[in-house]
Amino acid sequence: MSNDDLRVRDFSSVVFFTGAGMSAESGVPTYRGAGGIWNEYNFEDYACQEAFDRDPEKVWDFHDKRRAMALSCVPHDGHRHIGDVLRDLPDALVVTQNIDGMHQRAGAPDDRVIELHGSMFRLRCDACGVIEHNVAHPLVPRTHRCGAHWRPDIVWFGDMLRMDAVQAAADAIARCDLLVSIGTSAVVYPAAQLPALAAQSGATLIEVNPEPTPMSELYPHRIREKASVALARLCA
Ligand code: OAD
Repeated sequence: MSNDDLRVRDFSSVVFFTGAGMSAESGVPTYRGAGGIWNEYNFEDYACQEAFDRDPEKVWDFHDKRRAMALSCVPHDGHRHIGDVLRDLPDALVVTQNIDGMHQRAGAPDDRVIELHGSMFRLRCDACGVIEHNVAHPLVPRTHRCGAHWRPDIVWFGDMLRMDAVQAAADAIARCDLLVSIGTSAVVYPAAQLPALAAQSGATLIEVNPEPTPMSELYPHRIREKASVALARLCA
């Protein structure tokens, strides 16, 4: 089948596997490439537990900025097309590496979005582990009532991913009949290797990314377009 004829609604079990490029057209910066966050900020100073233990205020200043930036951006039509498909197909879900909550803001139900790398709008107490939804920016106070700092409930460099999220994602990907990867550089593991489970079980795989990635060979269908353009056609 040619790329132009592919339609998500012709499949029964669909996984949208998304990365930072999915939100790029909303104005949320990607991590790598031109304008990438890790070109401007050294992750060792802002995105690992050691940095947080050393200087939690500096790490929170960075995350306050990111929370404000994400909330000032609005989901684009591509997010909305995915939200529509999720409402129409009972067996479709999003597995995302994004922490910006854009899919949910575009209508994807919470229980149909697996956030592999957590959410910048969830806080976790660094001592007692309590979790709370919170969109304040700046965050005041930055401490839980037990006295310890909140930290964003996201996966920093060196952190383990939540096993329940990885397992749920792996199960869904292994049994889907269509996987659409959108806007990921496919260089961060273990997320990068999950789409291979769909290939192993004979699913159709589509990569949407203006640039090739180290995982492109896995995808028989490569659509070198922006997310919003490709999704308008795929989700028609
Ligand atoms: P990257 O920033 O590494 O890659 C973004 C990808 O999006 C690139 O391959 C771009 O070519 C592509 N892209 C850019 N604009 C696009 C558009 N309009 N439509 C489609 N694709 C577009 O982002 P991720 O792969 O998501 O980890 O990064 C993976 C992880 O690395 C992130 O989750 C984050 C980061 O460190 C954590 O926060 C734990």
